[in-house]
Amino acid sequence: MEQFNDWEDFWKKWHNVPVATEADLYYQVAKTINKEPIKKEIFDLINKNIAEILKLDKNETLIELCCGNGLCTYEFGKICKQVIAVDYSPHLIETAKQHKSAPNVTYHRANVLDFLEDLKKDTSVKPTKYLMNDSLAYFEPKDLEQILRLMIDISGREFVFLIRGVPNDEIKWNYYNTPERRQFYDDLQAKGDFTNAGMGKWWKPAEIQEVCDKLQLNWKMQNQVPPISNYRMDVLITGK
Ligand SMILES: C[S@@+](CC[C@H](N)C(=O)[O-])C[C@H]1O[C@@H](n2cnc3c(N)ncnc32)[C@H](O)[C@@H]1O
Repeated sequence: MEQFNDWEDFWKKWHNVPVATEADLYYQVAKTINKEPIKKEIFDLINKNIAEILKLDKNETLIELCCGNGLCTYEFGKICKQVIAVDYSPHLIETAKQHKSAPNVTYHRANVLDFLEDLKKDTSVKPTKYLMNDSLAYFEPKDLEQILRLMIDISGREFVFLIRGVPNDEIKWNYYNTPERRQFYDDLQAKGDFTNAGMGKWWKPAEIQEVCDKLQLNWKMQNQVPPISNYRMDVLITGK
């Protein structure tokens, strides 16, 4: 298996293939089941669910962290006044600009932490809605704390942050659900593969809770259910 130096290196190389079809966009950001793009109904259901939870509408500006190739971002552009999206993988941002652009959607290539630092200095935007979809697995608790501190700096206690699709350590055996898959997981642990074969970090709900409690933020966690997944959770963090 290919070796990676860090997550940024992983994302630069992983599924970095030319995009010719809409299906390639799904493949690029692993929105697949059994190597096929997830069904359109499921894709629509996910986006609808996000829009409902965040109460997105034509008056809202959404900040999307780790937007990938803009597959979902573009859909939020149809609902919101403005979407400001960021991702650090050059080929994904290029793909987003080429295939998923819209007048009210802007794509930035940056690490989310640097991006939020810059946003903090920009007094012309005061967003309150934030989304991170299927990406917390590539961060550690100290990063989450930093992200949340920056959100507080930018938005005060007004903000809502939806973190979708976090691998939940407490239900990981739903994913490693055969002796072979368990063995695979044990082997990865023994090898110390930091990418965990690309899955990233299995978060313990208590780790998220601890960070939120430290910053006096409210949290709500809910496990996803099939057909979305049976091993990931969604987390809603609010300042008030
Ligand atoms: C599984 S993809 C999800 C993409 C998109 N949210 C979606 O649901 O289609 C994870 C994304 O996180 C991005 N990413 C991971 N860590 C990042 C960081 N520290 N700053 C910016 N982007 C990051 C990767 O480049 C990749 O595009």
